[in-house]
Amino acid sequence: MKTPLETERLNVNLAGLRLNNPTMLASGILGYSADTLESIAEGGAGAVVTKSVGLKPRKGYANPTVVQVNCGLINAMGLPNPGIEEFTKDIREAKAVLKVPLIASVYGFSAEEYATVAVKAAKAGADAVELNVSCPHVKETGAEIGQKPEVLAEVVKKVKANVEKPVFVKLSPNVADIAEMAETAAKAGADALTAINTVKAMAIDLETAKPILGNRKGGLSGQAIKPIAVRCVYEIYERVKVPIIGCGGITNWRDAVEFMLAGATAVQIGTAIAQKGPNVFKTVAKGIDAYLKRKGFRSVNETVGMAHRS
Ligand code: SIN
Repeated sequence: MKTPLETERLNVNLAGLRLNNPTMLASGILGYSADTLESIAEGGAGAVVTKSVGLKPRKGYANPTVVQVNCGLINAMGLPNPGIEEFTKDIREAKAVLKVPLIASVYGFSAEEYATVAVKAAKAGADAVELNVSCPHVKETGAEIGQKPEVLAEVVKKVKANVEKPVFVKLSPNVADIAEMAETAAKAGADALTAINTVKAMAIDLETAKPILGNRKGGLSGQAIKPIAVRCVYEIYERVKVPIIGCGGITNWRDAVEFMLAGATAVQIGTAIAQKGPNVFKTVAKGIDAYLKRKGFRSVNETVGMAHRS
């Protein structure tokens, strides 16, 4: 007998990538090592997204880089990473052991940099790249690119012209109209859209009267942002045809199904790993499967965007 994670009901095709179930590791949560990514795949993830990598090594911000708040975490790590040359070794090692697709999250300070990093990641074996055009607190990259339609289009077009693997674009909620950015990215060639990255936030210590994070401001993730993320996915689905990956506050199967009904083909889980450990992917996937079975759906696809039809 097939286990719930082996059922065909859970299989999804994400812009050409075959996932055995629609749960994915969100970028930015864990390190780069093959062991770490493998432990997430063993925990049941249908695909993994790496931490964001750039052209050159970056130290990131001074501590504290993460603060816990009600229903979530605020982080401002500052995109610490070893640089793409070093990171290609990790991609090769991870690909040698992983049985699920590996997506490399990349950032740059220009369209050329995004493309150079994406090409190197793809050559090292990444099955797709996810463009981080949404980190809310590093100057001249991330959201500073993803909130300007013409710059966003230039970056996506440049990467698409140079990379043969699927290109995902991770969007920022910190814009007036996320559906407009989604449409811009899709017209420029994005194969899938991830919504959303963190919501701009900060926390202040009452005793010292100072901002807690080393960078003062950061990005909020976790349960607090789930309704914002669901609304973003819903709005994007109304505007574009490319697959959407829902991300933001998913901790259980109900959250995941809600994102699918809003229009997501797959979901990324990040902050919940801190509370629930790597097996959260298995638990969520089993719950989605039980829901599909109970409702008489033959596939995840039948639920995608259903809330728009009711
Ligand atoms: C960070 O490294 O500070 C977080 C990256 C992101 O929010 O995209």
